[in-house]
Amino acid sequence: MTKPRILLTRRWPEAVEAAACAEFDATLNHDDRPMDAAAFRAALTEYDAVLPTVTDKIDAEALSVDAPRTCILANYGVGFSHIDMARATDLGITVTNTPDVLSACTADIAMTLLLMTARRAGEGEREVRAGEWSGWRPTHLVGKKVTGAVLGIVGFGRIGQDMARRARHGFGMEIRVFNRSAVPEAQLAEVGARQVAELSTLLAECDFVSLHCPGGAANAGLIGVAELASMRDDAILINTARGEVVDDAALIDALNGGVIGGAGLDVFTGEPAIDPGYLSAPNTVLLPHLGSATAATREEMGHRALANVRAFFAGDTPPDQVT
Ligand code: DGY
Repeated sequence: MTKPRILLTRRWPEAVEAAACAEFDATLNHDDRPMDAAAFRAALTEYDAVLPTVTDKIDAEALSVDAPRTCILANYGVGFSHIDMARATDLGITVTNTPDVLSACTADIAMTLLLMTARRAGEGEREVRAGEWSGWRPTHLVGKKVTGAVLGIVGFGRIGQDMARRARHGFGMEIRVFNRSAVPEAQLAEVGARQVAELSTLLAECDFVSLHCPGGAANAGLIGVAELASMRDDAILINTARGEVVDDAALIDALNGGVIGGAGLDVFTGEPAIDPGYLSAPNTVLLPHLGSATAATREEMGHRALANVRAFFAGDTPPDQVT
């Protein structure tokens, strides 16, 4: 039986690339260059499966082919707002993702950003490296206390829950949750959380707000001028979800105008290009989309994507099918 032809659109961890090549007729992207729409369209006519990442903009243009050979897009990553799902469905293409395996590490990065922003770690590190540290003093780089503070979690899926566990059991934080559906009482009780019905209530009550909802049209601009205005003026916003969830211009204005106290961001609209306003905004920590970036997790993501492809070509429903 001929092996399915599959394309990995970026470099993957070596061990998973080797596994892909052993099991499938796999093409690797040795140069690790992101593909443009034309290259993606060509791939759809050449491969049985394409395994993309968040850096592939799989919009209507990239999917404008009449009869694709590709029957599964096995995304390497949990978020899939970079894929035009309606168009993929029209074309009869199955889409899968890689949930679970990256929840812990993404929550770790959210907590890293929360701590760095609260404790002004980015500023401090830059000061030391620049040779500008003049010594200990009671008023030097004074930040915000994390232990016992109130953390609002927007989106209580797997990553939001992992963030709540860290905050509650590691830092004794009080947890508030905003989630579109009702969260089971036992899940809230595990982290001593209270679910609030309105986003504005959560924003007004919290010292820190961490975003863990999906990206895409449904949540685009969820945090804008009005939402930022309803936060406390010393509150800190953390975004490890997707850039589009936050209105960049509104957040940059809010940071510069002292409407909120700071922001820790791992994701950006149009990344890797980011709004230059962030570079000079006060008390802002910026990371280059590192949420899932640990060796163990990146391997697990790859194996999970391959498991979806394997199941699909065995005639089974892939375990992580999202369409
Ligand atoms: C994810 O898995 O969604 C990460 O953000 C990388 O795409």
